[in-house]
Amino acid sequence: MEQILSCKNVTVFRGTTRALDDLTFNISAGQSTAIIGPNGAGKSTLLKLLTRELYPFVDPASELKLFDQTRWSVWELRQRLGIVSLDLQQTFFSDITGRNLVLSKFVNTLGHVDESILTAKQIDRAESLLVDLEIKSLQERPVRKISTGQQRRFLLARALVHDPEVLVFDEPTAGLDLPSKFQYLKTVGRLIDGGKTVVQVTHHIEEIPPEINRVVLLERGRIIADGNKADILTGENLSRLFEVELRIVQEDGYFRALPGAS
Ligand SMILES: Nc1ncnc2c1ncn2[C@@H]1O[C@H](COP(=O)(O)OP(=O)(O)OP(=O)(O)O)[C@@H](O)[C@H]1O
Ligand SMILES: [Mg+2]
Repeated sequence: MEQILSCKNVTVFRGTTRALDDLTFNISAGQSTAIIGPNGAGKSTLLKLLTRELYPFVDPASELKLFDQTRWSVWELRQRLGIVSLDLQQTFFSDITGRNLVLSKFVNTLGHVDESILTAKQIDRAESLLVDLEIKSLQERPVRKISTGQQRRFLLARALVHDPEVLVFDEPTAGLDLPSKFQYLKTVGRLIDGGKTVVQVTHHIEEIPPEINRVVLLERGRIIADGNKADILTGENLSRLFEVELRIVQEDGYFRALPGAS
């Protein structure tokens, strides 16, 4: 089976911090995965390895492959990987409209797009995403003048324009109200059911969609547990990871952490 990410003994430094420490880890196609860990554990760093925003420390013993290849042009990679992150959201300084945010992905920029250079197929694709994600009526507004949840949906539309096989989400539900959160979870479920692989970083275990079955616990740049969701999301594991006593309840495919011993 194709491996989306395959890393062997990979270390990543951020400044002087060893953000990922000798990591050996694979994600195969179809294996949607949630990555959980405290602040600073290296979760975003791990996603940035996947999106080629960061590179491993050079070491002959280490290897990093994306889609079974060691070399990639970022442009090609971005067609196969869609990204939604807070970082991306925080780069909205301009007056770019929602429509342009989505369309500009086709030309790999973040700005105004002259639509006459796009194909009818590209415009149709963007239009149908705007309709699906229920944001078409907001498309002419500058993205910095719409709500966080609405911005997130435009980012998701942008991430989906090339119909990528893999979607990478870094704290996708941060700042969303309950209906937006539930809508997001439903959308992710639909994407996974439709054959996409989702790799999601989250702080809240209740925001892991039931369709994601694999969970990885990351602590100080190392994986301390990895496997089936129900086996990994235990009170014991999470209490150790977050250094506070927690118990876990499970309902309708969702997990929830509560304070106190089980
Ligand atoms: N731009 C940077 N320069 C220097 N060090 C950084 C930088 N970004 C992150 N780090 C450090 O790298 C380590 C891992 O950071 P990372 O952002 O991957 O953590 P995280 O698990 O995503 O945390 P959070 O839950 O707070 O988002 C942390 O110790 C952090 O301080
Ligand atoms: Mg992070």
